[in-house]
Amino acid sequence: MTTAETIFLTGGTGFIGGYVIAELMAQSDDAHVLALTRARSTDEAHSRLWSQLQLHWDEATFRRHLPRITPVLGDLHAPDLGLSKTDRKRVLDTSDSILHIAASLNRKSAKACLNTNLRGTLSVLKYARALADDERLRRYSHVSTVAVAGHRDKEIVTEDQAIDWDRSDYDPYGRTKKFCEHMARELLPDVQKTFFRPSIVMGDSRFARTTQFDMVRAFCFFTDLPLIPLRPDDRLDIVNADWVAHAIARLHLIAEPRHDTYHLSAGTSALTCREVSQAMASTVGRKARFAPWLYPSFKATSDALARSSKKNVATFVGSLVSVFLPYIAWDTVFDNSRAVAEVGRAPTPFSEYCGALYTWAKAQRFTFEPVPLSRVEAAA
Ligand SMILES: NC(=O)c1ccc[n+]([C@@H]2O[C@H](COP(=O)([O-])OP(=O)(O)OC[C@H]3O[C@@H](n4cnc5c(N)ncnc54)[C@H](OP(=O)(O)O)[C@@H]3O)[C@@H](O)[C@H]2O)c1
Repeated sequence: MTTAETIFLTGGTGFIGGYVIAELMAQSDDAHVLALTRARSTDEAHSRLWSQLQLHWDEATFRRHLPRITPVLGDLHAPDLGLSKTDRKRVLDTSDSILHIAASLNRKSAKACLNTNLRGTLSVLKYARALADDERLRRYSHVSTVAVAGHRDKEIVTEDQAIDWDRSDYDPYGRTKKFCEHMARELLPDVQKTFFRPSIVMGDSRFARTTQFDMVRAFCFFTDLPLIPLRPDDRLDIVNADWVAHAIARLHLIAEPRHDTYHLSAGTSALTCREVSQAMASTVGRKARFAPWLYPSFKATSDALARSSKKNVATFVGSLVSVFLPYIAWDTVFDNSRAVAEVGRAPTPFSEYCGALYTWAKAQRFTFEPVPLSRVEAAA
């Protein structure tokens, strides 16, 4: 596919954003990305983008693509995104579309979610509005989340059923992301919009490396428990990052996607806890044992650890488990038939790559050490 267009993109230094930039470059010969990046200089912005993009490219490939990736220094929290006059003009004069990926995923901080997700998205939408008023905006794409669906229990949720204003939300993240979708619909009624709602994005079906460890750490933690406090037949909607990014780039670039909202999820093919643990049996050398009756005390303990002001491994893991538990134990999946039909391929079952991800992440102690950009070439 060839689409000559300039995309104003946020979140390119993040896990999904890095994947999406790599996919945009792969799927188009001449798309140009203006990447909103928190950095003090263009060199620093290049280094920050390289930290994510080295998951996908070697340095020569990164440099080959750099003419098509222009950092725009700014911050979602700053007025007008904190862009310089020149960059503001560049964004408004050259952007054909916007792909807003950046967000705070800090489920514990209402303040971070308010500032980054609500105030930040409003600022991005003001750029979209200005471009649309100038009849320049082909599409506004927005990376949302299935967490907008709020409290659920044993459901298969379709795109049109997900937002229900009478439901409570699990956390400030879900609540603010839900309102971000609403703002975009209200403020850009006349603009072509695409909303992407990924489920739990974890790992890559092609290789074990990752830069995103929160859910991976929770997955390894549960796998290592002698008794797993979950119901074995509950489904886990986990989806591979490579498929998610492929879908976002493709649906952003095509002229007429069939729908305005897509769940990027495992959907009805999501595996149960038992199926995931069976796939892990050869890696961990034993069969999992489930003890769902322990769930209430397990939840109470992780919530108490999350509230503790102490900082140690137990409170760290407790916090992690506490924020993710609702999304692990809700036995809810998100219908992905729209995305699968339109992208032409389904996500890879987690069972095919979970063992490699577990082994690599534990060996790396849940860290990714990026290789710095070489200085000599950086100056060239
Ligand atoms: N990961 C998942 O499982 C998952 C699931 C569903 C939906 N999503 C959605 O996918 C999107 C990306 O998530 P992710 O996992 O890639 O998160 P991530 O790795 O934490 O990346 C977040 C991105 O947002 C940027 N950002 C945060 N605050 C900013 C600010 N004040 N100004 C400018 N940029 C800012 C970050 O920039 P810095 O590098 O400067 O911090 C980073 O590029 C989010 O919209 C999220 O809601 C993710």
